[in-house]
Amino acid sequence: MAVAERGNPLVEGLERLPIHPTSMVIFGGTGDLAHRKLLPAIYNIAHEGALPERFNLIAVSRSDIAHDDYRAMARESIEKYSRRTPDPQVLNKLLEQVRYVPGTFDDDSVYERLDEQLKEFDKEAGIAFNRLFYLSTAPTFFPVIVGKLGDHGLSRHGEGEVRAVIEKPFGTRLAEALELNRQVLSVLDESQVFRIDHYLGKETVQNMLAFRFANGMFEPIWNRNYIDYVQITAAEDLGIGSRAGYYDTSGALRDLVQNHMLQLLTLLCMEPPVTFTADDVRDEKVKVLHSIKPVDPDCTVRARYTAGMAEGKEVPAYLEEEGVPQDSQTETYAALRLEVDNWRWAGIPIYMRTGKRVARKVTEIAITLKPVPHLAFESEGSIGVQPNQLVLTMQPNEGVALSLGAKIPGTRMRIRPVNMEFLYGTAFLSQSPEAYERLILDAMRGDATLFTRDDEVEAQWRVIDPILEAWSKGSPPLVEYTAGSAGPEEANKLLEPGHRWRAI
Ligand code: BG6
Repeated sequence: MAVAERGNPLVEGLERLPIHPTSMVIFGGTGDLAHRKLLPAIYNIAHEGALPERFNLIAVSRSDIAHDDYRAMARESIEKYSRRTPDPQVLNKLLEQVRYVPGTFDDDSVYERLDEQLKEFDKEAGIAFNRLFYLSTAPTFFPVIVGKLGDHGLSRHGEGEVRAVIEKPFGTRLAEALELNRQVLSVLDESQVFRIDHYLGKETVQNMLAFRFANGMFEPIWNRNYIDYVQITAAEDLGIGSRAGYYDTSGALRDLVQNHMLQLLTLLCMEPPVTFTADDVRDEKVKVLHSIKPVDPDCTVRARYTAGMAEGKEVPAYLEEEGVPQDSQTETYAALRLEVDNWRWAGIPIYMRTGKRVARKVTEIAITLKPVPHLAFESEGSIGVQPNQLVLTMQPNEGVALSLGAKIPGTRMRIRPVNMEFLYGTAFLSQSPEAYERLILDAMRGDATLFTRDDEVEAQWRVIDPILEAWSKGSPPLVEYTAGSAGPEEANKLLEPGHRWRAI
């Protein structure tokens, strides 16, 4: 804990639950995600003293390198990407317990060597370590790896728990997700499987649950009687970087809407769970997904960016990005209007949009309440009366803002909206952990609340699949927007009269 945090009443009570000794295995240990997110997250967990007292890490990957080479790579990534400057003592202690197993994921000898190494750790310590397999590979390897773990007896471990974290994307269509679930669950029990959606690890996303269910004042208005419409935005100024290979086969709908944005929607719309245990929470989320009416393709927009200005520089069009095929039909922007057709939400339009290379990075949910029924100030200056809007911002400037109509000082009764704001950074002095820190810890602990269950991921695909089907037939056509803009004009056509997208 940083010196400034000690004795700070705001951070008191933050939990540090002990975790059973664990050996973690990262498949794809030399990959981008491991370097940028997983290794720095593990370091930060160690820095906080929250790793299990005994912890080993094995990286598995194709590069033919030695343990020490991998340790040097891991050190470099942690130094570069950790949110804290690493403490040499903590880092050295962590790296001592790191091993590397080279080989391809379909090679049986990899699993034999892995087995030996895992057994050696157990033997040295005289205990059965829990085992956490983290599948951070291309998705084609997910069934291969799980199958081989089963074949080599690595899916169970006597007294110890065995768990597997599976990265996204979990399938690219509904049929694939169903098949992947079938393959995974033929080897592991659902309770051993942790399908990751890193948005659920974000403090601000979890805060939605606190916001909704720890405050009595919002519940009475959280329904169709008071809410006019909802908009969920996940905009990015970044382009696709060096990920053309992945991104062009994915597109914005699969990359962000199918997972992160539908997760935001479920947390926004779910009924209060009976308890906050993994299955009670996920039962409620699945109900929301089941209530979504099939989306009319005419209520969707798909677009890609042309050259423009973003991140303060000139940037090329999507088709000019390195590795993007000339005949690509992939969208870098998706917008849609949908409806959660249940008692609480029926009839409320929910607008969603996401895009790469738009004006700025912002992830938020904005809930616009119905206008007041009668304008008493009509005669003078009443133009300023706007419906109240509640905005939950996930990033940047994490917090919650409520717009209220207030009188402009002066002799006349003129109204304009003002903001009542709670800012995370100001209210809590400690820095929020990265999403991966929370999720890795939860997986080690065996708490699946913030992970996607089998029926949940399938329900997400059931919403998205018909849209993909229509898009593959050219309906609606792919349109364009300038990089650095707020997205395509066409997105406005999704809006009902009187509704407005918030500025990006
Ligand atoms: C990932 C997507 O899942 O989420 C990326 O594959 C996207 O394309 C990223 O940039 C956004 O995450 P965050 O945490 O930066 O909002």
